[in-house]
Amino acid sequence: MPESILVTARLPAGALQILRDAGEVHVAEAPLDPDALREQARGRSAIVCLLTDRIDADLLDAAGSSLRIVANVAVGFDNIDRDAARERGVIVTNTSGVLTEAVAQFTWALLLTVTRRVAEGDRLVRRGAWTGWAFDLLPGMELTGKLLGIVGAGRIGRAVAVKAPAFGMRVVFATRSAKEQVDGHPVISLDELLVSADVVSLHLPLTPDTRHLINRRTLARMRRSAFLINTSRGALVDEDALIWALEERLIAGAALDVYANEPDVPPGLLALEHVVLAPHIGSATRETRAAMAELAARNVAAVLQGQPPFTPV
Ligand code: GLV
Repeated sequence: MPESILVTARLPAGALQILRDAGEVHVAEAPLDPDALREQARGRSAIVCLLTDRIDADLLDAAGSSLRIVANVAVGFDNIDRDAARERGVIVTNTSGVLTEAVAQFTWALLLTVTRRVAEGDRLVRRGAWTGWAFDLLPGMELTGKLLGIVGAGRIGRAVAVKAPAFGMRVVFATRSAKEQVDGHPVISLDELLVSADVVSLHLPLTPDTRHLINRRTLARMRRSAFLINTSRGALVDEDALIWALEERLIAGAALDVYANEPDVPPGLLALEHVVLAPHIGSATRETRAAMAELAARNVAAVLQGQPPFTPV
């Protein structure tokens, strides 16, 4: 019997071809709710899923003992119960590596947008409220000589750091490893980073330890002139605390690509001018999305052929 592969969303043709060479492919035509996903998972050898699909013990049980691999088309995998997968002998893979540059570039896009007030200016122009060049119109923060604090020293955080010299920014990292330097940049404690950085950018996975890492206490440690950037996972930040800090002007602004309960964005954030809100598109370039889908497909093909996957988690 051919291997049966469930793909929970339409993926680029290159990835689907790799999967078709590995088995019989069923592509969901529309997003699957949890019941439909359980139903569709039954008897599959492999599931290729998105970060919006919850892969928990129930789902794995519904799939049954034929299931060998869950290939997430994302670098983050907090949507998957890894322990439950391990207990059932199911391999989990992500797409680390191929989206590093896209997310790092988007982090800089958000950083520049919020510090130079691009989105505020765009709104001003669109609502017809721009009355002409003015000396004091929307002054932003110059990046030259400022300190970029990167929380997390994985691939993406390090790729963000590589671009800092182009803008004259110095870099510090906060990471839990005992290193003193990352790529020549000092490693300091999270607390030291928060009190000193002009821009704080989060590059961590969401785990029980990192949930609400940015909260009332940590926000209150930041400089009043500082900006917060989050392109990782929304729940790293306590959104109520962030709204409080922005309303009280404890920080100068924030730029977010991710939210705790996507696609819900708290109304308190929507109401604020000094926040840039992107719809979770950090890795969304055509090139990177194709590469992510192909890597997930290659992981599936390898496992179904009895080989080790390329990017297990
Ligand atoms: C996107 O958020 C990803 O984890 O790939």
